Amino acid sequence: MPYDFSNHLDRTGTASLKWTQYPKDVLPVWVADTDFAAPDQILDALKNRLDHGVLGYEFPQASLLKAVADRMIKLYGWQVEPEAVVATPGIIAAFNAAAWTVGQPGQGLLTQPPVYPPFLALAGNVGLVNQFAQLRAETHEHVLNYRIDFDDFRGALHSNGARTAMFLLCNPHNPTGQIYTRAELQRVAELCLEHEVAIVSDEIHSELLLGEARHIPIASLSPEIERRTITLVAPSKTYNVPGLFCGFAIIPDAALRERFKKASDRLIHHVSSLSLIAAEVAYSGECDAWLAALRRQLAANRDWVVDFVRRNLPEVRITVPQATYLAWLDCNRLPLNGRNPYEFFLEHAKVAFNRGEDFGAGGEGFVRLNFGTTPQMLEEAMERVKRSHAAIG
Ligand SMILES: Cc1ncc(COP(=O)(O)O)c(C=O)c1O
Repeated sequence: MPYDFSNHLDRTGTASLKWTQYPKDVLPVWVADTDFAAPDQILDALKNRLDHGVLGYEFPQASLLKAVADRMIKLYGWQVEPEAVVATPGIIAAFNAAAWTVGQPGQGLLTQPPVYPPFLALAGNVGLVNQFAQLRAETHEHVLNYRIDFDDFRGALHSNGARTAMFLLCNPHNPTGQIYTRAELQRVAELCLEHEVAIVSDEIHSELLLGEARHIPIASLSPEIERRTITLVAPSKTYNVPGLFCGFAIIPDAALRERFKKASDRLIHHVSSLSLIAAEVAYSGECDAWLAALRRQLAANRDWVVDFVRRNLPEVRITVPQATYLAWLDCNRLPLNGRNPYEFFLEHAKVAFNRGEDFGAGGEGFVRLNFGTTPQMLEEAMERVKRSHAAIG
């Protein structure tokens, strides 16, 4: 069945964060949801429940936990048991609960900026000390590629006077769209084992693979790594249902899992009944053909935008994301006379990107683009950027 991702759905009448934050003449290409309808299978299951009429308290059924575990086995050959799976109302809630689980106030939280802003806020939420292992950009012509600097990573462990309790990994990485290789994951995991650091791996973007890229859950590398790892997955980005707030923590170690459940009971409550329904359909595999088509569309959007930047914005460098619908643009060489690129494009192009500085060190002078939209809207946004670029002087 052909799937069409070129149909513009007007979201302006909804309470969409992306579409209500800016005046009507601004095209929003920022917050990370897409402008595509969720697959029919999910929408039909939700409609069925609404037709039933009762939206009472519900909890994850064995069939849902099994669907999540089976998805890990099917996609990655990672043998997960259903009892290892804990439902959470979203991934931010889950990594906050994970920090309560593995950290004591005054201990360290290691992250890799530039990174998704709630990673940077987490330490403050739970009384941990921020420790940063900066990702390093390599540039080849107009393309940026991010790598882990292992000397920095080692140096960041137990830095700022705090013993590192938790490493919060983002894989695939937001905002760079980078997927780490097996060798990179193995090295960071070994360092974490050596230093007795718990790994919390946010893999929310792991099914949004573009082209031939393959995702490896860090916990799947060995039983020792698995024992120390909390893996976070969700259907939200993949099937564009983030407003339902549903995610899963996969915690094979029973003692760690019990501690996580206790910590999360202190802070957060149940997952909504509608999100449980959506998640079970998503993980059943019923929407796989839709997902394959979505990935082809996102890969085409990525290729188009990378080429557009190369041809029209010669001072700008851009990542070629292996996953996600997020591209990361280095605008530091644009002659903006000290103006911030996010503000410049908002004012002169009427295009709202994310501001690079919000992603921490290494984000200065960058913007993040969400290309999870129709080709027409992406083209319109980038044409506006091109016109404003022509007017720089
Ligand atoms: C890496 C990452 N983690 C978590 C989230 C948000 O997850 P949730 O909405 O389920 O809390 C996002 C959303 O953009 C994200 O990019």
